[in-house]
Amino acid sequence: MEALKAAIAAIHKQRPRTTVVLTGAGVSADSGIPTFRGDGGLWRNYRAEDLATPEAFARNPLLVWEWYEWRRSLVREAQPNAAHVAIAKLPNALVVTQNVDGLHHRAGSTDVIELHGSLFRARCVRENKRTDALDPFTDLPPHCACGALLRPDVVWFGELLPEGAFERAARAVRDADLLLIIGTSGVVFPAAGLVSFHKGLSIEINPQLSALSSSCAYAIAANAAEATPPIVQAVLDAGTDR
Ligand code: APR
Repeated sequence: MEALKAAIAAIHKQRPRTTVVLTGAGVSADSGIPTFRGDGGLWRNYRAEDLATPEAFARNPLLVWEWYEWRRSLVREAQPNAAHVAIAKLPNALVVTQNVDGLHHRAGSTDVIELHGSLFRARCVRENKRTDALDPFTDLPPHCACGALLRPDVVWFGELLPEGAFERAARAVRDADLLLIIGTSGVVFPAAGLVSFHKGLSIEINPQLSALSSSCAYAIAANAAEATPPIVQAVLDAGTDR
């Protein structure tokens, strides 16, 4: 694990005070939640244009909701893994996630930007009002009290990110001493574009090369649950060296 050792040495040398952690589906893979691309990825077995676009929902809201109910049930049964737990221990850290599974919150992270929304909120298509939706719906597709359909409060292909989310994330990436990029293929924009704002130390954790690997100072080829805890520990130790 040369890259892990080298990244830990760089952390001790640079003693980062502020961190942004950019995560994708791979950070939850060790919790048993499928990723989107790659082996076993959701987009290998399902067509995004049938399930994750506004047009797909307008065509067949029941089909879309059945798929989301299945994903919601997978996540409900899953637990945060060692990577989520370690990330929650980082001081002065902002988590910017593309995941909709809520596992960073469940692990104890308090400052989290969910760029792509949440599986556990729904939104009225007429009033745009958001509601928590933790439990399974009894009737699919679910409706708002006003009579209109509810939709999952997630960002589908072709939709804008939640207002202000990208801007806040970009400012934090620009100002952070350390950027950790964990478990994303780095091919979905604008999220992947955040990396270009960073000027400090950048470390990627991903068992495969991603579209972002070459722009990181260190690319650690390992699973998130394995490599994140020692990286976080190095940040904590470097802070107490001060
Ligand atoms: N630890 C770390 N990384 C892992 C692990 C693991 N155990 N297992 C897989 N990975 C990596 C893969 O190598 C891949 O690079 O996680 C990445 C997952 O990539 P994607 O499936 O493309 O997920 P993500 O980058 O989050 O996708 C972005 O695409 O469909 C949309 O909205 C969806 O938010 C999602 C966006």
